[in-house]
Amino acid sequence: MARRALRGTVLTFTGDPFLAEDPAATLSITEDALVVMEDGVVAAVTPYHPDHERALEVVHYPDAILCPGFIDCHVHYPQTQMIGAYGAQLLDWLNRYTFPTEEQFADPAHAAEVARLFLAELLRNGTTTAAVYCTVHPQSVEAFFTESHRLNTRMIAGKMLMDRNAPAALLDTAESGHADSKALIERWHGKGRQLYAVTPRFAPTSSPEQLEAAGRLWREHPGTYLQTHLSENEAEVAWVEELFPDRHGYLDVYDKAGLTGRRAIFGHAVHLTEAEFACCHRTGSALAHCPTSNLFLGSGMFRLAEAKRRGRPVCVGLGTDLGAGTSFSQLRTLGEAYKVAHANGTALDALHGFYLATRGGAQALDLERIIGSIAPGYEADIVVLDLKATPLLAFRMAHAQDWLEKLFVLMTLGDDRAIRATWVAGELRHAR
Ligand code: GUN
Ligand code: ZN
Repeated sequence: MARRALRGTVLTFTGDPFLAEDPAATLSITEDALVVMEDGVVAAVTPYHPDHERALEVVHYPDAILCPGFIDCHVHYPQTQMIGAYGAQLLDWLNRYTFPTEEQFADPAHAAEVARLFLAELLRNGTTTAAVYCTVHPQSVEAFFTESHRLNTRMIAGKMLMDRNAPAALLDTAESGHADSKALIERWHGKGRQLYAVTPRFAPTSSPEQLEAAGRLWREHPGTYLQTHLSENEAEVAWVEELFPDRHGYLDVYDKAGLTGRRAIFGHAVHLTEAEFACCHRTGSALAHCPTSNLFLGSGMFRLAEAKRRGRPVCVGLGTDLGAGTSFSQLRTLGEAYKVAHANGTALDALHGFYLATRGGAQALDLERIIGSIAPGYEADIVVLDLKATPLLAFRMAHAQDWLEKLFVLMTLGDDRAIRATWVAGELRHAR
């Protein structure tokens, strides 16, 4: 593979600003740097010098920021065709829109078409890694990993497990769900950059037997993930308490089934108790904060500052949660996360926001040693943020005093237009 380099202002984090004594010191911004890429990884980050042009193919990005590829910790690829379904809260929304949509993924050709469009859209938005829910059909997973493997994107995905409280066409059984997931793990986990997540949809659609089987499967395959939904909506939380009367709340259902721990990712967690935050901290379980979805479905306000509280911090990443979420863009997601933080009486500045979208997401996914930073040895997944993407953005940037203000303006005004290019493992995969 050719030695190539990207020239521009490089942004990367060296620590967690939520926890550091000196939060600002965790952010490194290097103007006019050169990111040398070789065999899909970053070989060096050095100050630019014209001599480099002799030995390397240099791509120059003026008026831009080279940022680690964005990380989406919770998203449903089959729901791409139903973004913006009107008027319902979670449980009604699932029955009215989501289940009929997901039934279509029995058809492998449909799954392949949507997987292609979905992954192209992620890259158009600068997202290079995501934790993705497929449908209950193994062929939906096959379609997704096939396309991701072709693009060489680092993706986490899995077959949904559902053996009750959904239409018959979407149900598996504890045994068939286990067997189908196991076969997919053997076929895809660790193939190229693909990683598998055991994926019970949420407690209401899995019997206790299926949750137990999911726990067993996850334990039997170290290195795989566990992803599911947790405490998103008040009616959902009440239903889980009805379905599992002998458990001490929603998270306890998962904990007792062996579904908490490092590499467990829980979506939403809007209505967590202090005991549940403490359980996530103790077990190393991560939360995916999905603000556009929580606002769209009227689910509530995730308490980010509470989750990241020093003393018992919980790993948190950002999720778009499409199709309940309303944008593929992590910049738009950050803009809404800022408003949700405000509604909670706190705030989210660019320092903490960009951490969540990059290294924080990587940490939530237990991948912080290979993605989420621009440094030697890291996989070369890089998004080029355009500071002049629109006339308004260019004008506003001219009035920004420093890099943090520019980044915050991107959180407020930025969307897919601000993604000038997306590099995946050292290869250009999107250019605007
Ligand atoms: N809870 C269970 N399934 C889903 C889903 O598909 N989307 C969201 N937002 N919440 C869920
Ligand atoms: Zn979801």
